Amino acid sequence: MDAREEKLLAFFHDSQPDISLADVDLARLPSHISIIMDGNGRWAKQRGLDRSQGHVAGVDSLRETITACVRLGVDVLSAYAFSTENWKRPQREVDLLMDLFAKTLVAELPLFHQEHVRLELWGDLSALPAKTYATFCRGLDETAEYSTMTLALAVNYGSRAEIVRASRHLAREVARGHLEPGDITEELFASHLYTADVPDPELLIRTSGELRLSNYLLWQLAYSEFYVTDTLWPDFDRWELLRAIRAYQSRERRFGGVGRG
Ligand code: IPE
Ligand code: IPE
Ligand code: MG
Repeated sequence: MDAREEKLLAFFHDSQPDISLADVDLARLPSHISIIMDGNGRWAKQRGLDRSQGHVAGVDSLRETITACVRLGVDVLSAYAFSTENWKRPQREVDLLMDLFAKTLVAELPLFHQEHVRLELWGDLSALPAKTYATFCRGLDETAEYSTMTLALAVNYGSRAEIVRASRHLAREVARGHLEPGDITEELFASHLYTADVPDPELLIRTSGELRLSNYLLWQLAYSEFYVTDTLWPDFDRWELLRAIRAYQSRERRFGGVGRG
């Protein structure tokens, strides 16, 4: 057994009644798993806590999920952390979240270095508070060369804004005479999205039971398998991740073709 396998078995050592590492096929893992991390507020409310404490607790779930994905050998983990619509929340909550992003990234950078995780950020970072922006830049800088796994965080991300932005880039190229409208293919369009460097997610997980996309990856999720769990994000753990992967592996992906019968 090599060191990598040993670490994997140790991480998933204490199995649950309904799931263990043996229930997933390690040879057929999704290479990109994406998560809409939802339910922090409800988790806090259930405990009589402030919503902010739900967000703080959610950080632990993200750390556990990052480690689980590294151990499994997933290539890309992406997570929706703040939408273009989340600015509508009370200023206090927005401030807390922006502060939490900066603090968490600084605190977790050693994990990125230890596991060789590359950070990627999707969204309009120019609108973020200076401290959050600076911390994100530092994270991008320090991890740019790593290739064990990519962690992409969608922050001030909205899929419609992303598509409009890509359209503007291409329109500008056409206006300058560098591109013909007929040159615009699906591949070229995709290369102008924030997600240009990563394959489309094979698996999308949404926690806390909501059956909607909330303006997340509208283009990229065209053929992804969805897994929605009632588990609130702060309660999400390595076993929930395995359940999602098991469900994904039980599906038949057709991509518009015919089934296996
Ligand atoms: C997800 O949890 C975190 C963010 C959107 C930043 P919520 O804050 O949306 O939690 P609920 O949906 O209100 O429970
Ligand atoms: C989606 O969750 C955004 C993030 C998880 C960052 P929301 O809680 O904002 O979505 P809605 O409002 O329930 O659609
Ligand atoms: Mg929510």
